[in-house]
Amino acid sequence: MDKGSKTAGGGYVKSYGCQMNVYDSSRIAGLLDGQGHVQVDSPLDAEVIVLNTCHIREKAADKVFSELGQIRQIKQERAELGRPLLIGVAGCVAQAEGAEILRREGAVDFVLGPQAYHRLPEALKRARDGERPLFIDFETNEKFDDLRRPNGEVDRGQLTAFVTIQEGCDKFCSFCVVPYTRGAEVSRAAPDVIAEAERLATSGVKELTLLGQNVNGYSWDGPGGVWTLARLFERLSMVDGIERLRYTTSHPLDMDDDLIAAHRDLPKVMPYLHLPVQSGADRILRAMNRRHTAAEYLTLIEKIRAARPDIALSSDFIVGFPGETDEDFRATMRLVEDVGFAGAFSFKYSRRPGTPGAELDGQVEENVKKVRLAELQALLDAQATMFNAGSVGRSMDVLFEKTGRHAGQIVGRSPYLQSVQVDGPTELIGSVRRCTIVRPGPHSLFGAIEPEQGVEARN
Ligand code: 5AD
Ligand code: SF4
Repeated sequence: MDKGSKTAGGGYVKSYGCQMNVYDSSRIAGLLDGQGHVQVDSPLDAEVIVLNTCHIREKAADKVFSELGQIRQIKQERAELGRPLLIGVAGCVAQAEGAEILRREGAVDFVLGPQAYHRLPEALKRARDGERPLFIDFETNEKFDDLRRPNGEVDRGQLTAFVTIQEGCDKFCSFCVVPYTRGAEVSRAAPDVIAEAERLATSGVKELTLLGQNVNGYSWDGPGGVWTLARLFERLSMVDGIERLRYTTSHPLDMDDDLIAAHRDLPKVMPYLHLPVQSGADRILRAMNRRHTAAEYLTLIEKIRAARPDIALSSDFIVGFPGETDEDFRATMRLVEDVGFAGAFSFKYSRRPGTPGAELDGQVEENVKKVRLAELQALLDAQATMFNAGSVGRSMDVLFEKTGRHAGQIVGRSPYLQSVQVDGPTELIGSVRRCTIVRPGPHSLFGAIEPEQGVEARN
């Protein structure tokens, strides 16, 4: 701590897993900041450490316990120096195994489930008083209220922001822990979302990504009737300063006609859609409780492409779900070939205790999963490369976000979420410019700013 300063010691938040979790970690960091625990880069410099855990895949709880073992040592060394360290565990592992964590790991001072982040100040206070609070209740909308950013506060120069509009999931896919760890679907009140968007726009944010575990299931029953995601997009399109709208993650069953039409009619809704399908085999989709067939997914994709022909599609896949045969896996490969994805995430099935999938017969051997995943990823990588190569020669709007690695370079995103590097002045950061894509790189595109924008291209 600084000499004579009243500031509390540093805060350190470690994030695991999914995008919601990364976003939640930034909110936790914000709450720590509000308590005077300014973010530090290393746990060694912190006075409060929060591990924000994700439960969706892998042996997350084991990882947390091994990490806690290391932090316990830091805590012991600190105690000897008379500098206390508070340790908290947050997130989905906390929700599922919080009591067990407190019982097994004496170094943990507090536990916060994903619905209870806003109680962090109270948890810190109680922990300092020697209690070991366990906050894991589901508390619906209260969470959204307390996590609201004060006066649209964002980092200086921040151009893109996440806004949580929905939490939890009612879909109960048989492999997934989310309905158990994050609870039932809750949607945030539309006026709150709009007010947050306006505040963010005033602070200079240009692009919003609306977040939810089942974001297109968004449904808020307000005074003027039900708000769907499509209606929310229509309203958010009117917010001055916000130029781009994105959303993740969606379920195929909730991809309604109005939302598809929003991709056609609202220019601010970006032509990019993350729409997990998980498998291309009907019997596996049924066992996963996805509630649609492969053909229905393909028909949906056709409809979306009819509305917005240039849309970039992304997805999630699981290989080696219990009972998956070679023929089922071939069906997944065929679906990938039929759709042509711009990018995708793919995973080996991981058995999650407490989910129906964990109890199923026919668990697939690890090496079979490995081989299938490698084959699927090779195809998805080839498609991503093809998608980027297909952008060469095209003209597209780029929102410039930062300087590049080399002097004179600036970097932004295309509407399709590709990273685009150009030679250009830093004054363009924060604005959208039309660029011609010149060549693809391994992870990004190289472009040239088009001269008719009043800025000379130097490529
Ligand atoms: N095993 C493997 N992948 C999983 N996912 C969710 N649960 C599991 C699991 N048990 C993947 C799904 C989901 C993404 C966020 O994580 O593909 O869409
Ligand atoms: Fe999990 Fe399925 Fe809900 Fe996605 S839709 S969060 S995979 S239960």
